[in-house]
Amino acid sequence: MPGLASFLIENDGSYSDKTIEHYRLRAAGGPSMIIVEAHGVAPEGIVSRHQARIYDDRFIDGLSRIVAVIKAEGSIPAIQIHHAGRQVPARIIKRKPFAPSTLPCPAIKGDVEPLTIEGIHKIIRQFGDAAERAVQAGFELIEIHGAHGYLINQFLSRFSNIREDEYGKGIAGRARFAREIIREVRGRVGKDFPISFKISAQEFVPDGLTTEETISILKLIVTEGVDIVQVSAGNDATPEWICQPMFMKKACLVDSAEKIKAALKDIPIMVVGRINDPLIAEAIISEGKADLVCMGRGLLADPELPRKAQEGRLDDIRICIACNTCMQSIFRKGRIECLVNPSLGREKEMEIHPTSSPKNIMVIGGGPGGLNVASTLAKRGHNVFLYEKESVLGGQLILGSVSVYKKEMLHLIDFLKKQIKKYNVTCHMKSEVNIDMIKEINPDVVIIATGSIPYKPPVDGINLPIVATVPEILYGVKTVMKDVIIIGGGATGCEVALELSERGIHVIIVEQLPNIGTQIEAITKKIILEKLRKNSVRILTEHRLSKVSEKGAYVTDKNGNHVFLKGDKVIIAVGNSPNNSLFEEVKQIKKEVYQIGDCLEVRSAKEAIYEGAYIGISI
Ligand SMILES: Cc1cc2nc3c(=O)[nH]c(=O)nc-3n(C[C@H](O)[C@H](O)[C@H](O)COP(=O)(O)O)c2cc1C
Ligand code: SF4
Repeated sequence: MPGLASFLIENDGSYSDKTIEHYRLRAAGGPSMIIVEAHGVAPEGIVSRHQARIYDDRFIDGLSRIVAVIKAEGSIPAIQIHHAGRQVPARIIKRKPFAPSTLPCPAIKGDVEPLTIEGIHKIIRQFGDAAERAVQAGFELIEIHGAHGYLINQFLSRFSNIREDEYGKGIAGRARFAREIIREVRGRVGKDFPISFKISAQEFVPDGLTTEETISILKLIVTEGVDIVQVSAGNDATPEWICQPMFMKKACLVDSAEKIKAALKDIPIMVVGRINDPLIAEAIISEGKADLVCMGRGLLADPELPRKAQEGRLDDIRICIACNTCMQSIFRKGRIECLVNPSLGREKEMEIHPTSSPKNIMVIGGGPGGLNVASTLAKRGHNVFLYEKESVLGGQLILGSVSVYKKEMLHLIDFLKKQIKKYNVTCHMKSEVNIDMIKEINPDVVIIATGSIPYKPPVDGINLPIVATVPEILYGVKTVMKDVIIIGGGATGCEVALELSERGIHVIIVEQLPNIGTQIEAITKKIILEKLRKNSVRILTEHRLSKVSEKGAYVTDKNGNHVFLKGDKVIIAVGNSPNNSLFEEVKQIKKEVYQIGDCLEVRSAKEAIYEGAYIGISI
C-alpha cells in the first residue's frame, strides 16, 4: 500500500484510535508492506492541518502504535517523509511557503519564499531527524517523497526550479537537493536500512520531468543509498496524473516504470497508479515490467483485496472505480469517504455483526442503496426480499455507466449484485410494489429505496416530443440527433454532453449558474471540461430555459434577454425529484419503515450506499 493521507489525523498532528484502526484493517487485509502516509518533516512543510507529522519527538509514541498494529497483522511497516514546499496555502502554515524559486504553486498561487542555502541545509537536516524518529518508532523502511509537485519534486524540475546557483540549472544542480537529503537520511539510519524514493517520473507540463530526464536524475541520486524507487507521476498542475480518474487508462504508469527498470537495472522498481485489479498487478510482475506493485485507492475501497486475491476470491473484491470521491471528500469536507466503501474512515462504527433476532425484511428498489442494504441485512442473518420494478438491478448506476468513460461503474453494479447472490437475498424483478402487496406480504420491516424521477421544469412546450429526459436519451429508444441542447450543466448534463459529443453530435449546454460542473470532483472535472472543449461543445452559462418549441429552446440570460437555440432534441438534465409516494402510505400500516437514498433526498450513489450500510447494520 503506497502512502495515502488518511485524513484521520488530529489537528495537532497526533493519531486517533480511528487512524490506528484504519491501518490495522489495511494491514490485516494482507499487503506485504504498508507505507504509512506522508509525514511532515517540518511545521512549515505540512500540506494541510490533517497531515501526519514527524517533526518532533513527541510524535514517536503514536508512530510506534501504528508500527505495532501493522506488524501484529503481519505486514511490514514503512513510512513516508515529506515536505510540501510551495504546495500549501500560507494560511495553513501562517507564513509564506518555501520554494526553490520565486515561482508559486500553480494551483494555490500566492507568494512564496525562495529557499536560501541555510534554509536548504536546515530542511536536509529535518529529513535526517525525521528518519531517525522513524527508526526509533520501529518502521522498517523509509520512503522519501520526491513526487507529486512537493518540495523535492519542485527542486528536481525546471517547471518549478529556475535557480541559478548550485541547486538549480542543469540536471545535476536540480538533483542536488534530493541527493543531499538521501545522503543525510542514509547517514542517520545506517547502511543496511531500506530507503525508497518516490518520484513523479513524468509531470506532463512544459519544462516538466519526462521519463528520460527522470532516468538521468535517478542515476545521479540512487548512488547515495536508495534501495527501491516508486514510480508515480504528476505535479501541482497535473493532479490527474497523481490520482488518475476513471477516464484514464488502468496501470497507466507501467510503461514509464518499465523504462526506468531497464535503465537502472539493479534497483527494484515499484509502480503505482490505477492498478485496481490483482490480475493486472500479477501481469505487471510476471511480465517483468516492475518488481513491486502499489495499490492505494484499491485498499481504501477494499482493505481485504490482497487476501481475497491470494485466496482466489476475485468476485468478492470491492473494486476501486477511480471516481476520486475520496479526494473530493478530503478537499471539500476535510475527511475521507469512499463511494464504494461506506466504512472508510469510520471502520469501527460500521462493523457488521450477526443479528440475534432475524426479521423478514422487504427492500423496495434495486439501486445502489437498495442493493447494499439488502446484502448487509442478509449477511447479518435477516431474511431479505428485494423488489425491483425494472428487469435489471443497478438503478441510477446503470445510467451512470452508459458513457464510454464510465464503464468502471459496472464493477460496482456487478459487485453489489454478487453480494446479493452470495447472501441469498430473494430478488423479485419487474415487480412494482404497491401498498396492497405490502399488506399481503406483511414483512416485519419495509425499506424503501425507490430512487428518484427526472424533474422537468414547468415551461411552455416541456411535453413536446422534442424534449427528452436523460434516461430516455441514454437507454431509451435510439433516435437520430444532430443538434442537441442540454438544459443543466451539472454532473449529469456534462457527462451526457461528453457522451453525445464523442458520438459526433453537436451539443450546447445551458446552465443557469456562472459555471458548469460545480459538483464534479476537481480532477475528473478538469478532464471532462478539456474533452468538452476539444469536442467543441458550446457552453452557455447564466441562462435558463424559458420555453421549448418544435425547433429548439428559448433561453433567457440574467438580464432578461431571450435567445433562441435551434436543435432537434432538448435534453432536460436539471436534476431529479424523490420518488417517495409509497413511504407515506406504508407509514400508516407499518411501525418499522425506512427510506434510503434518492427517495429520501436526491444525492449521489455514495449517500445511497452509505445509508444502505447504516440501516443495514442498525436493524
Ligand atoms: C486520498 C489520497 C491520499 C493520498 N496521499 C498520498 C500521500 O500521502 N503520499 C503519496 O505519496 N501519495 C499519496 N496519494 C497518491 C497515492 O499514493 C497513489 O500514488 C495514487 O493514489 C495512485 O495510485 P492508486 O490508483 O493505486 O490509488 C494519495 C492518494 C489519495 C487518493
Ligand atoms: S472513493 Fe472512488 S477513487 Fe476513492 S477509493 Fe473509493 S472508489 Fe476508489
